[in-house]
Amino acid sequence: LVVPVVLAGGQGTRLWPMSRSARPKQFLDLVGEGSLFQQTLKRAQNKQYSAPIILTNADYRFIVAEQAQEIGVTPKAIMLEPLARNTALAIAVAALAAVADDEEAVLHVLASDHAIDASEEYYQAVATAAQAAADARLVAFGIEPTRPETGYGYIAVGAPIGEGVNVIDRFIEKPDLSRAQTLLEQGGNVWNSGMFMLSARTYLDECERLAPDTFAAARDAIEQAIRDLDFVRLDEAAFEAAPNISVDYAIFEKTNRAAVLPVRFPWSDLGSWDAVWKAHQPDADGNVAVGDALFSNVRNSMVVSDGAHVVVDGVDDIAVIASTDAIYVGRLSAAQGVGSIVKTLKADE
Ligand code: GDD
Ligand code: MG
Repeated sequence: LVVPVVLAGGQGTRLWPMSRSARPKQFLDLVGEGSLFQQTLKRAQNKQYSAPIILTNADYRFIVAEQAQEIGVTPKAIMLEPLARNTALAIAVAALAAVADDEEAVLHVLASDHAIDASEEYYQAVATAAQAAADARLVAFGIEPTRPETGYGYIAVGAPIGEGVNVIDRFIEKPDLSRAQTLLEQGGNVWNSGMFMLSARTYLDECERLAPDTFAAARDAIEQAIRDLDFVRLDEAAFEAAPNISVDYAIFEKTNRAAVLPVRFPWSDLGSWDAVWKAHQPDADGNVAVGDALFSNVRNSMVVSDGAHVVVDGVDDIAVIASTDAIYVGRLSAAQGVGSIVKTLKADE
């Protein structure tokens, strides 16, 4: 059985003001039924999987426990990070917890902020990746790109190595627009979905070799951890000492065990308001309303409202995001910038 490892520690600042530091986007009902985090747990309820290991910031422990319980999921562990040190460390902690139970554990690392259509094809891909991971490959799920997206990393797909996976020729993390355009035109490049299938043991071996500080911090964090109700509180000093680095940079760019599985199921990282707009399938005028909204002579726009009645009149390409205590209005197609504006705001605290 594959162990789902759900990463739910991100801040999601680009979806301000709905996504707040107290309740980031993975815990919101944005698209589909339930929060993105709950949808992630549900996808991992199929017979291929055992109970999930969830990693999150200590601040989100009650939201996580509550949302899991609400959909009847009992996690194997909820591991609490005292501070954010990014994904390489979080995955190393999960891998150590998994090998303590089963030396041959295979981990499906899942971001908790993606909208995915869990079709037959999805579960087929899970099976293929699990097979390759059991053969000591570190597998990234790669999505066929449809536009020159700058919010994603790209993977250059190399030669097939059997088991349905390919060698990774190169990682290109979040290119600028002209680079993204080139990658799309060239072909042979896929988006890095941020979803991985790993043999826990292989990951740990590579982590020890390529990112020894991260490895040591993970080991200390878990050795000094404190059990608190249903939670595992990871050691703060160990986290402080750890480098802040993502799995992409720390491991995948360096290891020769990496492989990519090109997949075709519908997938989106709901990273910005225009991604949420796309995920909702806009009406004939290109508009999306989440909550109470009225459009008059408006095109290619979106309203997300937490209760206020919003009327939009005679504009194009506008996002109106109305939470109960803060409102954002901006160009929908340029909504990627929200994250950096929010970092300068105190209102979010
Ligand atoms: N537990 C935990 N701890 N989770 C974390 C942490 C952390 O410190 N940091 C991030 N995460 C979680 C986020 O909640 C999210 O589910 C996932 O890890 C990825 O982090 P993001 O911050 O959303 O990364 P990104 O979207 O900018 O970029 C990554 O994902 C893209 C696809 O979604 C990269 O891998 C890109 O290359 C990739 O295209
Ligand atoms: Mg993301």
